[in-house]
Amino acid sequence: MKILILNGVNLNLTGRRERGVYGDETLEEIDRAIGAFAAARGVEVSFFQSNLEGELCTAIQQAEGKYDGIVLNAGAFTHYSYALRDAIAAVRVPVVEVHMSNVHAREEFRRNSVLTPVCRGEVLGFGKNSYILALESFLL
Ligand code: DQA
Repeated sequence: MKILILNGVNLNLTGRRERGVYGDETLEEIDRAIGAFAAARGVEVSFFQSNLEGELCTAIQQAEGKYDGIVLNAGAFTHYSYALRDAIAAVRVPVVEVHMSNVHAREEFRRNSVLTPVCRGEVLGFGKNSYILALESFLL
């Protein structure tokens, strides 16, 4: 099984920005933890992060036929990117939406995701373990 771990805007700053919300670990450290979990379960994972909406859309388009699933933390794009939503809807690759923080316990604008309706499911509020739980969902 091959899974793409896709991170969007500002996730490259994880470990440096809003540590009280997102924790102290960098995205590279989180990716290593995801990689170790995946390896222990025989899952092949690839990682991609971009601050550019179009690059994320391209990554989703190119995942077709290449990956069995995508774990996506789109960052703030979650809340308004119809382009990402359409990219997810356009491919047959299942996408699980992820958020490290509990977006429902934060600002009002974070409560709405334009992506959830076209995703297989959503995991939020468990810090880096949100990624691992999302990855695990593909093994059920
Ligand atoms: C986030 C939540 C989003 O609202 C925010 O814009 C992020 C990170 C999370 O992982 O909790 O950048 O997706």
